[in-house]
Amino acid sequence: MKLVNMKKMLAKAYKEKYAIPHININNLEWAKITLLTAEECKSPIIVAFSPKTIEYVGGYHVAAWLIKNLIWDLNISVPVALHLDHGNYDECLKAIEAGFSSIMYDGSCEEFKINCKNTKALSEIAKKNYVSLEVEIGKIGGCEDNKFVQGAISNLEEVKEISKLDICCLAIGINNFHGEYPKDWNGLDFELLKKINAAINLPLVLHGGSQIPEEQIIKSIGFGISKININTELQIVYANALKEYMEINNLDENRNYDPRKINKFAMQKMKEVLIEKFKVFNSINKAK
Ligand code: 13P
Repeated sequence: MKLVNMKKMLAKAYKEKYAIPHININNLEWAKITLLTAEECKSPIIVAFSPKTIEYVGGYHVAAWLIKNLIWDLNISVPVALHLDHGNYDECLKAIEAGFSSIMYDGSCEEFKINCKNTKALSEIAKKNYVSLEVEIGKIGGCEDNKFVQGAISNLEEVKEISKLDICCLAIGINNFHGEYPKDWNGLDFELLKKINAAINLPLVLHGGSQIPEEQIIKSIGFGISKININTELQIVYANALKEYMEINNLDENRNYDPRKINKFAMQKMKEVLIEKFKVFNSINKAK
């Protein structure tokens, strides 16, 4: 199947109350196990690259062709959106040029007026290229590409205003954080989520989806969350799997140092977590 943008998959998820998994891709192994698991579970999937990861893998075209070629060679038939995560204006243009089917413009550090102006301009370019556009209101705090940023919850008037522009979905700040949650975290702000969902008729995006308790995830889906972003939790699983492999195998025996063996072990552990997430998000079999 060819790449799709997020529009149809999110509209369906929003209507039928489930969430599409957005999985941040960190390397080839991440991409391969994410696509294979989505295919096995018949779940639509969003594979996302942040600008820093794009730099890490070699560039926008490497990221785009990695996903397109894996879809082709692995015969992936479920809908796959290739998404830029937290891009600035220029990064969004580069992603579109390289063939991404979806972008997130993160104007949350800009003044609201500038955020709207850039959103409007990008929505026109995105539309011409059949690319879906996510934008952000409020600031999702926590660790973003190794920098700690302070969060801010979404302003309801700004949410209403930006939702009038031609966007596919809206990322909101409801006391969600990127990275590991602090021990004294007091949960998602459901009162605000309910107000946002009642005020606009648009799929909502939950960033910082790692480590949020299952009952909060399920409740949030009931109030319009239709896309949930996961990165940190899989990074932790991957790193722990590498550690475990080193502990239980003697690297000098049976060519146990072969990266293909090491990564196969880690990918199996990631697959278990991916399936758990797809179950909680209720996205299994939604690609049928
Ligand atoms: P986590 O790293 O907390 O899972 O968040 C991922 C994310 O929101 C990417 O945009």
